[in-house]
Amino acid sequence: MTYKDLSTTPAGSEGPILRCEGLTKAFGGVNAVNGATFDVPRNKITALIGPNGAGKTTVVNILSGAMKSDSGTVHLGSTDVTNMDRAKIARLGLMRTFQLSRELGGLSVLENLLVAPKVQAGESIFNIFFRPRLVKREERQNIERATEILRTYGLYDLRDNWARELSGGQKKLLEISRGVMASPSVFLLDEPMAGVNPALIERIGGYILDMKAQGVTVLMIEHNLNVVERICDNVIVLAEGKTLATGKLSELRQNKEVVTAYLGEVINASTGH
Ligand SMILES: Nc1ncnc2c1ncn2[C@@H]1O[C@H](COP(=O)(O)OP(=O)(O)OP(=O)(O)O)[C@@H](O)[C@H]1O
Ligand SMILES: [Mg+2]
Repeated sequence: MTYKDLSTTPAGSEGPILRCEGLTKAFGGVNAVNGATFDVPRNKITALIGPNGAGKTTVVNILSGAMKSDSGTVHLGSTDVTNMDRAKIARLGLMRTFQLSRELGGLSVLENLLVAPKVQAGESIFNIFFRPRLVKREERQNIERATEILRTYGLYDLRDNWARELSGGQKKLLEISRGVMASPSVFLLDEPMAGVNPALIERIGGYILDMKAQGVTVLMIEHNLNVVERICDNVIVLAEGKTLATGKLSELRQNKEVVTAYLGEVINASTGH
């Protein structure tokens, strides 16, 4: 499995790969994101944690171009990508997955990868008519790549099944595979392990570590602190749309504000008190 070589992306090669400053986004009277400011370090796995409704998904929507912010800036390496079109952001190497899997149920598992967002020659009408051989070659390469990804993620035997027939866990794997298809250098994962069984949590954790080993930067929204502790290098805590703290999970456990806003709740929930 190969991912994009970071040094070849237009994102530059020094400093944090993603920086957001003063992001805000309101829905009617709800300030979903209210001044979020943080850096995502290059080639690390960073967790974005915080209570339900803290604005985590909205931040990922803004970073990936799925939603426009009301104010604030986003930089991908040295490029200002604030409120840039999502296809352009994807072309710069940033992909995301959705909290609720967005598979295309009426397509096969393999087809879901083949139509995943990416830059390909066949998408240009000019190329379809005037450069058919180039399009054919790209199609063949896409099928080879999709097949390799499905093997890596344990979905190969299901390649001809309807995506709608997959289990919840398999849909999570398909969601990740669709993002990988575009060879991201920055991959934003919105709760990639929510609702999946412990064995699959373990497997997905391994896949994410493999991505990091190959140079990908991961920012993942995650509620399971055991997962965060095991695989994440850094943590960003979001509460009420603001960055409450950043650091290692062990440091944040000593931070009273963080414990009050979030960790206390989660620790109590997991110990049943
Ligand atoms: N499209 C929308 N329209 C209106 N309100 C929204 C929209 N998206 C999010 N919100 C509201 O914005 C706030 C932040 O939501 P968001 O989904 O970003 O939180 P979250 O941190 O991802 O929560 P969770 O952990 O439950 O996924 C919530 O109050 C939510 O109801
Ligand atoms: Mg969310």
